[in-house]
Amino acid sequence: MRVVIQENYQKMCQWAANYIAAKINSHKEDRPFVLGLPTGSSPLGVYAELIKKNKAGELSFANVVTFNMDEYVGLPKTHDQSYWYFMHDNFFDHLVDMKPENINILNGMTDDPEGECARYEAKIASYGGIDLFMGGIGVDGHLAFNEPFTSLTSRTGVRDLTTDTRIVNSRFFGNDPEKVPAKALSVGIGTVTDSKEVLILINGHNKARALAASVEGSVSQKWTCSALQLHKAAIIACDEAACGELTVDAYKYFLDIEKGERL
Ligand code: GLP
Repeated sequence: MRVVIQENYQKMCQWAANYIAAKINSHKEDRPFVLGLPTGSSPLGVYAELIKKNKAGELSFANVVTFNMDEYVGLPKTHDQSYWYFMHDNFFDHLVDMKPENINILNGMTDDPEGECARYEAKIASYGGIDLFMGGIGVDGHLAFNEPFTSLTSRTGVRDLTTDTRIVNSRFFGNDPEKVPAKALSVGIGTVTDSKEVLILINGHNKARALAASVEGSVSQKWTCSALQLHKAAIIACDEAACGELTVDAYKYFLDIEKGERL
C-alpha cells in the first residue's frame, strides 16, 4: 500500500486530482474509463480541482463512466442531502462534457433494494470492472457505508447506519441524528477492492485513528478500511493532520519513499 502524505488538505486534493487526471488522460483502451466516486467533505477539494482541469480543457470526461459509492435510503434526488443531489451540485453539473447516461448512482427510493444492488454490481461488471475507485472514510474507518464488522468480502447491498455515523452525519441534517436516514444502499468492501486501483482520501485530526488502523493495524472487520492492505494497488492520500496516530517510523518511511510526490 502507498501512503502519500501532503502538508495540508489543499495539497492532498491537488495531488489526488493530478493522479486521477493522469489516469484518465493516459487511458487509451477502446472502452470507457470507469471511475468510482465518493461523497462527503473529503473529496470536495478534489472535485473542485477536477472541474478546473475540465474547464481548462486539460481533462475530458467524455469517455468516463462513474459509479458512486452509496446513497441514503428514502431520500429523493431532489433532497439536498441525497448523494445524487450532492454529486450533481458539487461535481457533475460543473463538467463541460460529462454524459448524464454515464453517471451511475444507487437509487435510494427503489421499492426493490436487493434488485437495485444486484443490477448495480452487474452494470459494473458489464464495463469490465472499475478502473479507479476514489473513496473517503468515516471516523470509525467505514468505507462507503460499510460500518465496522461488515464482511470484508461484502458486495453492494442495504446497510444499517450506526448511531455513531448518524451523529457524525447529523451536521448536514440540522444536527438531529434522527433526521439522518437509518439505512443506505452501498457498494461492498469487495466491490471496492475488486477495482483495479483504489485511492482513499484521509484528512483531518478526527481521522487519525482510522488512518493508523488502515495502515498499521491488523486487517480486521472492525476497521473495514483495513481491507485495503490486501489490495494490489491501494493508495492513501492524506494530510499531516491525519498522521497523528501513525508510529514515527511508519510516518518517516512514507515521507521518505514518496518524497518525489510531495507538492
Ligand atoms: C459518509 C459516506 C462515506 C464518507 C464519509 C466521510 O458516511 N457514506 O462514503 O467517506 O461520510 O465523510 P467526510 O469526508 O465528510 O468525513
